[in-house]
Amino acid sequence: MTDLSSIKDQVGVVCGGAAGIGLACAERFAAEGAKIAIIDRDRDAAEAVVKDIATNGGEAMCTAAECTSEADMDAAVAAIVERWGRLDILTNCAGGFHSVPSIEELDAETWRAGIDWNLSGIYIPMRAVVPAMKANSYGRIVNIGSSAGRTGLTVAAIDYSAAKAGVTGLSRRVAVELAPFGITVNTVMPGPVLTPRFAALGRERSERLVSVTPVGRLGTPEELAHAVWWLSTPGAAFTTGATLDVNGGIWTG
Ligand SMILES: NC(=O)c1ccc[n+]([C@@H]2O[C@H](COP(=O)([O-])OP(=O)(O)OC[C@H]3O[C@@H](n4cnc5c(N)ncnc54)[C@H](O)[C@@H]3O)[C@@H](O)[C@H]2O)c1
Repeated sequence: MTDLSSIKDQVGVVCGGAAGIGLACAERFAAEGAKIAIIDRDRDAAEAVVKDIATNGGEAMCTAAECTSEADMDAAVAAIVERWGRLDILTNCAGGFHSVPSIEELDAETWRAGIDWNLSGIYIPMRAVVPAMKANSYGRIVNIGSSAGRTGLTVAAIDYSAAKAGVTGLSRRVAVELAPFGITVNTVMPGPVLTPRFAALGRERSERLVSVTPVGRLGTPEELAHAVWWLSTPGAAFTTGATLDVNGGIWTG
C-alpha cells in the first residue's frame, strides 16, 4: 500500500530555498528523504544549504537563478531532470518587498516590479515544471502567498498585497487545469513568520504585527514547512486549488 505521508526518494524543487520559509521547507523535505533542488538568486547561501543537507546524509543540488526569468527557470528545471530523471514537488517561496509607499507615492514602475517578483515569480516556475510532472502523471505544487493578500495590512506594500491575493487565483485556475494529470496546486498564506526578511522589517513593525496576531507570537519557518510538507505528500491528492492560512489567526490588520 502507498504510504500517504512518504516523499522519500521523490524530487523536490524549492524556489527561494536558501533562506527563511523556503530553507525550512528544503530541510524538512530532505529530512523526509526527498532529493532537493534549491533555486535561489543567492548562490553562496544556496550552496551552503546543499552542503548542510549533504552533511546530514541527504541529497541536494542548487542553481543560482532568478525565479522571474523564464530562461533561468527552464535551464534550472532541465538540469534537475537531467540529474534525477523526474520532478515531483515544487514549492514557490521566492518573494518579498522593498518599501511600503502609499498609493500616491507608489509609482507604476515599482508596482510592476512588485507584481513581477511576487506573481510572475510563481507563474514562471510552475510553467517550467509542468512538463516533467505531466510525464509522470504526478505532481505537488505549493505556492506561498501572504496574509497581506487577505487582510489589507498596511505594514505590507500595495503591490505585494495585490500580488499575494493574486497567488490564490493563479493557483486555483492552474489547479483545475492540472487535476486530470495527478498534479495538485495549492496556496499557503503565512501570517508573520520570523525569517531574515521579516527581521529586516524592524522591531516596531514586528511588535505591531504580533499585537494583531491572536496566537500572540510570530510563526516559525518550521510551522510553515509542516503545512507545505503535508500538501506535498501523496495523501494530499484530493486537496487542490485550496488556500491554507497558517497565520496565527490574523484575519484583520
Ligand atoms: N516572513 C514572513 O513573515 C512572511 C509572511 C507572509 C508571506 N511570506 C512569503 O513567504 C516567502 C518567503 O519569505 P521569507 O520571509 O522566508 O523570505 P526571505 O527573504 O527570508 O527568503 C527568501 C529567499 O528567496 C530568495 N529569493 C527571493 N526572490 C527571489 C527571486 N525572484 N529569484 C530567486 N530567489 C529569490 C532570496 O534570495 C531568499 O533566499 C515569500 O514569498 C514571502 O512573501 C513571508
